[in-house]
Amino acid sequence: MSEHEQTAQEALSRIAAAEDLTALEALRVEYLGKQGSISALLKTLGKMSPEERQEKAPAIQALRQSVADATAERKDALEAAELEARLATETLDLTLPAPAAPQGSVHPVSQVMDELAEIFADLGFAVATGPEIEDDWYNFTALNMPESHPARAMHDTFYFPDTAPKGGKMLLRTHTSPVQVRTMLAEGSPVRIIAPGRVYRSDSDATHTPMFHQVEGLVIDKGIHLGHLKWTLETFLRAFFETEDIVLRLRPSYFPFTEPSVEVDVGFAIENGKRILGGSGDAPDHGWMELLGSGMVNRRVIEMSGLDPDEWQGFAFGVGVDRLAMLKYGMDDLRAFFDGDTRWLSHYGFSPFDQPTLSAGVGARA
Ligand code: DAH
Repeated sequence: MSEHEQTAQEALSRIAAAEDLTALEALRVEYLGKQGSISALLKTLGKMSPEERQEKAPAIQALRQSVADATAERKDALEAAELEARLATETLDLTLPAPAAPQGSVHPVSQVMDELAEIFADLGFAVATGPEIEDDWYNFTALNMPESHPARAMHDTFYFPDTAPKGGKMLLRTHTSPVQVRTMLAEGSPVRIIAPGRVYRSDSDATHTPMFHQVEGLVIDKGIHLGHLKWTLETFLRAFFETEDIVLRLRPSYFPFTEPSVEVDVGFAIENGKRILGGSGDAPDHGWMELLGSGMVNRRVIEMSGLDPDEWQGFAFGVGVDRLAMLKYGMDDLRAFFDGDTRWLSHYGFSPFDQPTLSAGVGARA
């Protein structure tokens, strides 16, 4: 065996045995680095006569090539092994057993909000949102309740100590109506939205909790009048309660942000001591139940929301979501909604697979 062949054999077996990339790099330097032994051999070629060089060069070149190839091959192998090892430590065990029966349920408030979104989407309404920590200006001033307006006192507001960017204090929004202003300012007109969400008032008994849910409705367009409001509410309530037999009574009322303002009552019958929605409240054994507030959006609100009230009009309404859920699904204590009692939740909750759709019935129960 020639001297070069011996060098090659030794180098190749050491390279094949290199345990990691650091060891391999040390070998590369030892053979092929600037001071490496094979590099030194290559340098001897320069001092040879042309004849001698022709004779010896092929063996030296072959030696260099075989060591370079072996190094590259070992490097690939070591890198692949390193990746394999890393991937092995990053595996995720997806084989946990599923529970025998589905656990958890959709809260009736979430279910009703989904039902509302479905019904109003069919009427061309988008869903809008706004912050729960609100600026006094959006919650009150822009809704035509300037400071010292008496209606402010009726809201039992939770205030923060922080001064709001637009003056007054920051607060927990007392109603979803500020989303009206935010939507008009952000998107201009026309507008067709509902805005479901949490609202807060310092109040607590069987029918009041400090946090509850409302859904706001707002339509802004040209030539909108009370007839549109009444049709929309009737269509919504018939779809929601899944009966054509919904009779509404519009009663003149007052809200600072609507003019005129109407409170909407729904007729119910008393059967076996229980209230069943349907029929005129004026019929024998019937009554009217107050359901929601609404009206034509006050010119001043449209103006403060950046639109010209001579060009754009609209209607708005606000209704308690928890109240709608209680009426439809028969719960009678609002506080139980927020207790997190799993027995209550499994009794009144909905299957996550039971998505409300108009075709299947917005209130279908599994
Ligand atoms: N924001 C009112 C409240 O919480 C409810 C309301 C009444 C909303 C009339 C409206 C409306 O949009 O037009 O008491």
